[in-house]
Amino acid sequence: MHYDFDQVHNRFHTDSIKWDRTEKLFGDKDILPMWIADMDFRCPLPVIERLISRAEHGIFGYTARSDSYFESFAGWVKRRHHWEIKKEWIRCSPGILTALSIIVQTFTEPEDKVIIQPPVYHPFPGIVQKNNRELVLNPLMLNIGRYEMDYDDLIGKIDPKVKMIILCNPHNPVGRVWTKAELERLGQICAEHDILVVSDEAHFDLIHNGHRHTLFASISEPFALGSITCTAPSKTFNMAGLQMSNIIIPDQQKRAMFTKALDMLHLSLSNTFGIVAAETAYRHGDEWLDQCLAYVGDNLAFLTDFIEAHIKPIKVIQPEGTYLVWLDCRELGMDAKTLEQFFRKQAKVALDEGYKFGKGGEGFTRVNIACPRSVLEEGLQRMASAVHKWVQ
Ligand SMILES: Cc1ncc(COP(=O)(O)O)c(C=O)c1O
Repeated sequence: MHYDFDQVHNRFHTDSIKWDRTEKLFGDKDILPMWIADMDFRCPLPVIERLISRAEHGIFGYTARSDSYFESFAGWVKRRHHWEIKKEWIRCSPGILTALSIIVQTFTEPEDKVIIQPPVYHPFPGIVQKNNRELVLNPLMLNIGRYEMDYDDLIGKIDPKVKMIILCNPHNPVGRVWTKAELERLGQICAEHDILVVSDEAHFDLIHNGHRHTLFASISEPFALGSITCTAPSKTFNMAGLQMSNIIIPDQQKRAMFTKALDMLHLSLSNTFGIVAAETAYRHGDEWLDQCLAYVGDNLAFLTDFIEAHIKPIKVIQPEGTYLVWLDCRELGMDAKTLEQFFRKQAKVALDEGYKFGKGGEGFTRVNIACPRSVLEEGLQRMASAVHKWVQ
């Protein structure tokens, strides 16, 4: 079937953070929300139909994930990512962030060090520091419009206290889909120093044409055993509100430790609707996802052309994956707070300000392009007219 991603859906009055909270958070009722990572598209139709029929049943008692659920996810990983996983390796948690926090608590001790690669998804520092672990920054390098890992800096920062790295692949916000060679190099360094690689692959299904995603753990058996992979249907199928994630842990001992931690927090069960939705999407979501990716790809081309033609001081860092685009606004010459106010007050668009992603994020902003083209165009027009007034 053909999905119409051009259709504009009113998301107000659904308790959506993106739409219903924007006025409160950004201080303006006329501001256009282009922030936070969810899409303004409806889910795959089979998911909606299954949820309706499950709701009509009317009884929502305790629900367990069946073998069929785990088979659907393993089938998805094999079909879309060519990695064969055993269903026994899969654990679940409400969200990836919950899992990351549990992983930090379970596999490191207070005051151990955990590495992240900023500018990066903004909750990462809190997950490390609020758990009383020391944060180590291995900033990415921007080389002619493309971000790269700095292996020399990484090696220089490793000491016996460093126990873990949280890898973001594909990388939010800079949009890199790390190549196999890049991951191999990172993995070798971590293996040599006995550093657990926690690979946050929340966006692993959202890959643009011409790029190929490599699951870190799929590279080799030692990498699989020395890592934990966090994935979810949330970004892929736009169901973050259903609070489901799949955590792949091939190593038996690590799996037992993670399972024990989940049990201690009574997090092993999950929401009836989340299970139904995720399984249906993994079985029947390919067609929707392929069309969604094509649409988002066209949105990216539209944004790139528009900015090149009408907002010259802003440079697009071309994402290889995700529906988030990292914009280099440094030529506007504003400090981080001025840039934040500029987009809010002059352009009236709600974006994710770059400085929130940590070191190297100042002067940048992140825009979410998973919306109907008309909405994207409206946001870009607002940005263009504000920039024109600024540079005059
Ligand atoms: C890289 C990354 N990890 C995790 C999350 C959040 O995942 P969850 O909602 O499953 O906790 C996001 C959401 O934007 C993300 O971009």
